[in-house]
Amino acid sequence: MDNEIIFFSGNANKPLAKKIARYLDLPLAKSIVTQFADGETRVELQDNVRGADVYILQPLSRPANHHIMEAAIMADACRRASAKHITLVTPYFGYARQERKSAPRTPISAKLVADIIQVSGFDRVLTLELHTSAIQGFFNIPVDHLFAKPIYRDYFSQNTEDLLMVSPDAGGVERARALAKVFEVGIAIIDKRRDRPNESSVLNIIGEVKDKNCLLVDDICDTGGSLTKAAEALMEAGAKSVSAVICHAVLSDPAIKRITESCLVKVIVTDSIQLTDEAKKCSKIEVLSIAELLSKAIRRIHNSESVSSLFI
Ligand code: R5P
Repeated sequence: MDNEIIFFSGNANKPLAKKIARYLDLPLAKSIVTQFADGETRVELQDNVRGADVYILQPLSRPANHHIMEAAIMADACRRASAKHITLVTPYFGYARQERKSAPRTPISAKLVADIIQVSGFDRVLTLELHTSAIQGFFNIPVDHLFAKPIYRDYFSQNTEDLLMVSPDAGGVERARALAKVFEVGIAIIDKRRDRPNESSVLNIIGEVKDKNCLLVDDICDTGGSLTKAAEALMEAGAKSVSAVICHAVLSDPAIKRITESCLVKVIVTDSIQLTDEAKKCSKIEVLSIAELLSKAIRRIHNSESVSSLFI
């Protein structure tokens, strides 16, 4: 069993797990991950993991608390069954937006989630497009932080005419700038204000957007408020068109309604989170898969090769 990859999945995104397994040319390892009558998580690993290099796919998406517990209990099972290494492959790190005290007497929930992950037995985390890179520092174990840039690059390289990258808020400037560099285009920044959770308004646009095909770049689309308001403001400022590229399609209600009714031409997302049927039916939403990227990262981690070379 020594030096073998064993790849499990929790229940958060089985379709993505199956795709990654295909790229790895491995069967998805067998496990029972279900619930007892009272809602407690029940895990039973049905494949031997003794001495193995184990990877568990589990984005921490809705219901986040349940998916965190599933991942933690699966790691505990692996540890007690003598796995050699246990890596959490979590392309969407939930709670990432709660990474600092935003008001007095509030928690730093992202740090608590990092603690739970470590205590449960994981000894490495592989993740994608963290809300902020500093979250890596919440862990005392290695964190391999991937960027979706190579996937976007392949998708957009055909059509860069009048393209302008737009960050929907000050926090996302680095992300927009990185993509602007790839396509050698300019950037604009939306000056966004958030008075309450899930409610935002546009104050100003920094940069020249007139006659540009604007591409809003963000890590998360949750209720769609930030995105659709930014799109409206850009059109009012004379943009030729507005589309968006969002890594994590959280898409809580009423995001789909807002996107459908908005001036956005297209919203490109990844499959880091399993899409709801409603999202799949939305004609404006297009999905790019991260399966190959994750499979390559898993292979490289397993072979102790560079992971950063995947996205530089
Ligand atoms: C915030 O900083 C994030 O990057 C997203 O812009 C935000 O979470 C989106 O939330 P919503 O879609 O609810 O406006």
